[in-house]
Parts: sequence; C-alpha cells; structure tokens
Amino acid sequence: MVKSKYPKVAIVLGTRPEIIKMAPIIRLCKKQGINYFVLHTGQHYSYSMDRQIFRDLELQRPRYNLNVGGHHYRKQIGYMVPKIMEVLKKESVDLVIVQGDTNSVLAGALAANKAGVKIAHHEAGYRSHNLAMLEETNRIITDHISDFLFASTNNAYRNLVSEGIPKYKVFLTGNTVVDTLRQNIKIAMKKSRILKKLSLRNKKYILTTAHRAEIVDVPDRLASVIAGLDAVAKNSKLPIIYPIHPWTEQNLKEFGIKVPSQIRLVKPLGYLDTLLLIQNAKLVLTDSGGIQEEAAVLRVPTVILRDETERIELVRLGLSFIAGSDPAHIISGAKKMLKSKLRWSNPFGDGHAAEKILSALNLI
Ligand code: UD1
Repeated sequence: MVKSKYPKVAIVLGTRPEIIKMAPIIRLCKKQGINYFVLHTGQHYSYSMDRQIFRDLELQRPRYNLNVGGHHYRKQIGYMVPKIMEVLKKESVDLVIVQGDTNSVLAGALAANKAGVKIAHHEAGYRSHNLAMLEETNRIITDHISDFLFASTNNAYRNLVSEGIPKYKVFLTGNTVVDTLRQNIKIAMKKSRILKKLSLRNKKYILTTAHRAEIVDVPDRLASVIAGLDAVAKNSKLPIIYPIHPWTEQNLKEFGIKVPSQIRLVKPLGYLDTLLLIQNAKLVLTDSGGIQEEAAVLRVPTVILRDETERIELVRLGLSFIAGSDPAHIISGAKKMLKSKLRWSNPFGDGHAAEKILSALNLI
C-alpha cells in the first residue's frame, strides 16, 4: 500500500447523484485498505432517493448521517457546516473528498477549509455560466477553495485554468459516472424488471426527468415544461415516463398544474431500473446532469430542458439539443433529435476515473 500524506479520508456526500458517482471511489478505497469513512449530510433522505441507491450499489451505510434534509434547501448549508466540522475534528481527518455541486458539496468543502483539512473535488470545472442556478455558485466556490480538482472533460479543465486555478492542482480524469455505469449495466440488464413492470417496450417510450429549482419552483416554467412534454407525447405517439422528485410532485399540486395522462408520473426509481430505462428509451428529455452523461454513454439522444448545459461537448457533438422550457422549443428539439443520425462518442472518460483520482491523491 502507498504511504499517503493523507492517512485519514472523509468522503462527504448527501444526495442520490453523489452516492452514485462516489460509489466507485468508495469501493476502491475499501479494496485498497484506505482509512476512510463516509459522512452523509442527509440532504436526500427518502427511501427511494437514498437507501434504495445504497442497496442497488451494494454499499455499506455511512458512518455518520447528519439528517439535515428536513431543512429548506436554501438554508441547509448553514446547518451542515458546523456539524461536518465537528466530525472532521473528532475523526482527525486529513483529506475530504466531495463530488459535484450540491449544498452538501459546498458545505463539505467549507467545513474542510475552516478546519484546515485538504479538499479534493471530483467533477470540478463544470460551468453553466448562469449564476441564477444554485449549483453554479456551489461549484465556483468549491473549486476555488479546493486543493485537488478533478475535471471530467477537456472543457471543464479549460474552465478551471482560465479562472486562474494553477495547473498543478487540476487533473483530467473523466467522470466516475462512467465507472458506475460500466460496473452496473450488465447487472441492470439481468436484474431489473422495470420495462415489464411499467409495460414498456424497447424504444417505444420517452424518458423524462425535471427537478432543478429554477424550473420546478417557478409555476410558469413548470407548467411550460409539462405543456412541452405533452406536445412531444402527442406528436411522437409515445408515452413519456417521468420519475418525479418528491419536491417537484409537491409543487405540481401546490401550483395546480394538471399532468396529462400520456405523461406517466412514477416514484423515483432505483439506479439499476433507471439505467435500464435510459438504455431502452427512444429519447430522453431532462434537466439532470447525470442523466445527460448516462444517456450519452448509452447512446440515447437528449433534449435538455434548460437554457444551457455544463456538458457543452454533448451539444457540440450533436448528441444533445438545448431546448429550455418553451413548449415550441421542446417539441422542435425532440423532432430534431428523433430523426438525426448520430455519431456517438463519449466525452466523460474511459470508466477508470476512480483509479485516476485516488492515484493523483497518492492514495493508491
Ligand atoms: C446534480 C448535478 C450534477 C452533480 C450531482 C452531484 C447539475 C445539472 N447536476 O445532479 O452535476 O454531479 O448533482 O453533485 O448540476 N436516477 C435514479 N433514479 C431516478 C432518476 C435518476 O437512480 O428515478 C439516477 C440517474 O441514473 C443519475 C442520477 O440519479 O445517475 C441523477 O440524479 P439527479 O437527481 O438527476 O441529479 P443531477 O442533476 O445529475
């Protein structure tokens, strides 16, 4: 085993996508006998967004859970930071690893910074260039206080360097989303019964997800996206499957938005079911970051229900279309992507990102 400068590692996570993207790092830490533990902020806490994902990925439950998920997301960081600092101190942690751009990521990085602990940020350098997006500030601040920055794509690497972050801190590793997908797709194909359960056939449905605050917290925008989805379902004559976050479902009710029957709302799914649903979909319409990446790896075209994306390579390669929330743009994006002949390539790495990250940290 390599003798590391950082003998004690805390992996801080808090949401479904972080569990999914940290899984290969956690697995490798365990396999290599690294002295690590997982701290869960509890940002996501329902069974389907949390325990179900740990179960699907056969991960042990975290050593700590801070249970801050009950607080409004605009206030969560304030609750998380002191609690994370307490754990870092108690465990004498040398290095914190965070992934992505959630409140838990920024809280983990701020707590480490204040506690004098080194910070490694996986998925550094993504930029939407839209400061109205809550995650954008989380990313920028986290990147600028991190000691090790792991960029998923060439563009993310360039963003960091152009913001003045010294090159010696930045590593191009690809994204562990590919590692997790490659490690699980065959298992999903063997184990998942989701197509049968939802009575779906290969390439005879469209998959959608939308949960970003700047869309689902704004009544007009949410209504507009639902109208766009309805138009796509009618035009393509394909049903739309929409696994919906609890928060978004609550907003639909509160804003009095009726969802037409060809848009089928389902509870958030397990990871294996989601992989299979993406793989067999004719098209994916989404505001999710991880799903854009997974769809590209599984060779399914996407329409992005936002005005921009930090996965800009997908648009440049013609694999994604940015539609925003206007129904006319959503329908024209869907038509375009349904008929284009695409030349697939994957900008997110070779599926060995976790090894590259731990070896750059001199942990393996
Ligand atoms: C957001 C960020 C992303 C970052 C992540 C973690 C954006 C646009 N996205 O996640 O960059 O990496 O936080 O910091 O800023 N899934 C299920 N069941 C479902 C639906 C989805 O398991 O019912 C899985 C998908 O397969 C995917 C992940 O959940 O792996 C996506 O989660 P989502 O909630 O869409 O978050 P992101 O937008 O990816």
